Amino acid sequence: MKLSRIVSNRNGTSRQRANALIAAGRVMVDGRVCREPQQEVDRFSGVVVDGITVQTPYPARYLMLNKPAGYLSATLDKTHPTVLELFDPELQDGLHIGGRLDRASTGLLILTNDGNWSRRLTEPRIKTPKVYQVTTESAITAEAHQRFEQGIWFEYEQLRTSPAHIEELGERRARVTIYEGRYHQVKRMFHAVGNRITSLHRESMGNIHLDPVLQPGQYRPLTRAEIASV
Ligand code: URA
Repeated sequence: MKLSRIVSNRNGTSRQRANALIAAGRVMVDGRVCREPQQEVDRFSGVVVDGITVQTPYPARYLMLNKPAGYLSATLDKTHPTVLELFDPELQDGLHIGGRLDRASTGLLILTNDGNWSRRLTEPRIKTPKVYQVTTESAITAEAHQRFEQGIWFEYEQLRTSPAHIEELGERRARVTIYEGRYHQVKRMFHAVGNRITSLHRESMGNIHLDPVLQPGQYRPLTRAEIASV
């Protein structure tokens, strides 16, 4: 919401008066004077006018989970356990997933209640690198390397994936980096080159790496640096 709207709504003043208060430097956002009435301010920021709080910051939550296999990347499901059930009930309210993993996939899963932040993490235009360790049914071919680098045509979405990179770790093991997070993307890319994934584990998204101390099913809050990296 625009700062001028927050100030006028909560302070019981007109929009014009709110603009004047802001321009006069009498309004602080998160402890800093803000003189821009059009500034977008979300519910996670505190707003103070003349020393009086008009918006208390809503606590933002950013969590990383080491997702175990068998859990759905969903908040509610009738048949399968969901990743949300792995969290303390006090933390669950309002959480959503920033970049799903398939039920059989494991590794880094990020949950938050901050929609603007998770959009930046997952928006394909932003091209955040996502790194996966995969094992495949058959050997990874030179053609696969080439086709991944060229981008693979996805008929359903009518688009070509961004160039992706394969680093071979063994004959049927590789580290794959992609720059979007389309539906079943890595599986579909291997399928397109006549191969099949038998396991998939996410190691990182951008500068956020799965913490090696986390056992499957364990989670921790993101650090300030991890949050700021998005
Ligand atoms: N790509 C897939 O195919 N599956 C995942 O879980 C993540 C990326």
